[in-house]
Amino acid sequence: MITSNLTEENRANSTTSGGRPSGSGLRGRLNSAEGLRFEAELTLLRLAPRLEAHWNALSAEPRLRQEFEERLEEYWWQLFQLLFELYGSRYDFFYHLEQILLTAATAWIQRPETLRDVDRHRINEPNWFASERIVGGALYVDLFSENLGKLRESIGYFKELGLTYLHLMPLFAVRPGNSDGGYAISNYRSVDPRLGTIDDLRLLADDLRSAGINLVLDFVFNHTSDDHLWAQHAKAGDREFQQYYFIFPDREQPDKYEHTLREIFPAVRRGNFTWHDAMERWVWTTFNSFQWDLNYSNPSVFRSMLEEMYFIASTGVDMLRLDAVAFIWKEMGTACENLPKAHTLIRAFNCLARIATPGLLFKSEAIVHPDDVVKYIAPEECQVSYNPTLMALLWESLATREVRLLNRTLSHRHRLPEGTAWVNYLRCHDDIGWTFDDADAAAIGINAYNHRQFLNQFYTGQFEGSFARGVPFQENTDTGDMRIAGTLASLAGLEQAIEHDDEEAKELAIRRMLLLQSITLSIGGIPLLYLGEEWGMLNDYDFVKDPAKAGDTRWVHRPKMQWEFLDELDDTSVAVNSSIRRRIFRSQQKLIAARKSSHALAGQNMELLATQNPHVLGFVRTHEAHRMVVLANFSEQPQTLHGNLLRTAGMGRFFEDVLSSRTLGTSDDIVLPAYEVLWLKRV
Ligand code: GLC
Ligand code: GLC
Repeated sequence: MITSNLTEENRANSTTSGGRPSGSGLRGRLNSAEGLRFEAELTLLRLAPRLEAHWNALSAEPRLRQEFEERLEEYWWQLFQLLFELYGSRYDFFYHLEQILLTAATAWIQRPETLRDVDRHRINEPNWFASERIVGGALYVDLFSENLGKLRESIGYFKELGLTYLHLMPLFAVRPGNSDGGYAISNYRSVDPRLGTIDDLRLLADDLRSAGINLVLDFVFNHTSDDHLWAQHAKAGDREFQQYYFIFPDREQPDKYEHTLREIFPAVRRGNFTWHDAMERWVWTTFNSFQWDLNYSNPSVFRSMLEEMYFIASTGVDMLRLDAVAFIWKEMGTACENLPKAHTLIRAFNCLARIATPGLLFKSEAIVHPDDVVKYIAPEECQVSYNPTLMALLWESLATREVRLLNRTLSHRHRLPEGTAWVNYLRCHDDIGWTFDDADAAAIGINAYNHRQFLNQFYTGQFEGSFARGVPFQENTDTGDMRIAGTLASLAGLEQAIEHDDEEAKELAIRRMLLLQSITLSIGGIPLLYLGEEWGMLNDYDFVKDPAKAGDTRWVHRPKMQWEFLDELDDTSVAVNSSIRRRIFRSQQKLIAARKSSHALAGQNMELLATQNPHVLGFVRTHEAHRMVVLANFSEQPQTLHGNLLRTAGMGRFFEDVLSSRTLGTSDDIVLPAYEVLWLKRV
């Protein structure tokens, strides 16, 4: 046990002042350590008696102490460096460090034993999330099942669909009225009473675990709601809590910052600051005016959010979705996005998760330039990340019927470090922004600015011949910039086809949806559905009737689950629209099952295949001895490829499409009808 070693050595050292310390353990290492490393080890030595006393106060079992201390020794140097970089210049650094250590120790001791078992298991199997068996879904509890109790009763539904990962949109207590879909949290330790209680959440987490489904919740750590207790104290004039946020007496500082800032929600409010009448102060609010950005240059904020993180983890969460990671560190004269210290900060949280909640993973939500997205992805930072570039480019390919930009981008942007994975999705609760790289576009002769204009026109249905029914989000009248809202089905053409009662158009729309799904399920990483996609749910324009939602067009693609659809699954006598839903649901189910039984689809290894056809995406997936070739036609015209292509991809002479069970030979031509996808394995 390092603690007793440390304390003994500490004692020995103080009595034999100046004498040679024993050669083993930390004290021994200390002599040879250099610079900061020396300080780190000395600091741990100084903290050891505090930890010892803390263990005693907690009546911690020796076995648990030992497990914690082994990890502490393993990660201490990393943690010390990170925190030193963030807060080392503060006079009270040592105090905060001590508190952080004790908070971590408490979190481990108070962690339910079932979760500690998960931790122990995952330490030995850190890549568990790379399995082909992981398939995710995301939902709003109220819109899907009303509350957490009823959600527990829906576990059978998730199993039927094949999900093994469930992201529940923010479900904590929020401010009344508009809460940005739960992203304005007023208390991280209580559930929104309309949804249930913390105990309901714990019960749900247990049930999900028994069903083999991982639970993902948000860690909304960039901002709190303006009615969070910390904000309330700040408003009441408490200086300690005013330092939790960015609060300014006049426009001087805000104006200086504004020179280099983007506007995220320009349709809500211009600029990034909100005037607070009662306080007579300006507050930094990157998103809505009621979402107050936290000031992480203050170590008390880090510590407070660490406690909230451990609390959320203790409810039974497997993965935290780190919300709005790009914005968490601010420095004058910069864009205040993707700053180096944002990474340091996340790494510090990660390190503290490794020490006290080692089974917990982080998922990064960085919807930014692809060069910046990848910087958050590392085993030491966020093990998984949304893949916004793939998402945007799949939609781009669908609009253009060409995969050139997708290919170009994938060729140098898909590979990730060992021990990490993409989360591949088509729609989420947020909008679509065209975050591809301008240079990638230029390399194949596309003007990025014009192309984004085209994509916006196309997906809002203004481009002649467009099949899409999207809605603008955050249209900026100054720059002409906008993002796109809409459900998978409406963007893929189903809404328009149903409205025109056009059978052929309906068929094409369904094929487009399945085409996109079969890519996110096979390209490498965790596929993530936004629930409702499995029924082809259309845009819901009724959100405008709710004043708390009316100003935010993202609600158009957050429809309410309609459970009556389930009855249609086996009822073959019903109307046409229900047969569309049946077909989409059954196809989705089949795709998921096919993924889960294809070992080649585990992990991230993906090599593009030069199909010599601008409409057809091709790639090879390999995992261990398994191999699969995926071919996808992004146009409504049939495309023909030489069977030979597959021989070069190492497929042998005969292969089977696992989606249709069709067998093909390499001496034949491969004909891909409109929007067809093949998952080919050797037979
Ligand atoms: C994230 C969420 C988005 C929210 C924003 C502010 O980007 O995904 O829905 O509006 O953060 O919390
Ligand atoms: C911006 C942010 C992203 C957020 C989105 C919400 O794109 O970068 O984090 O999800 O806005 O619309």
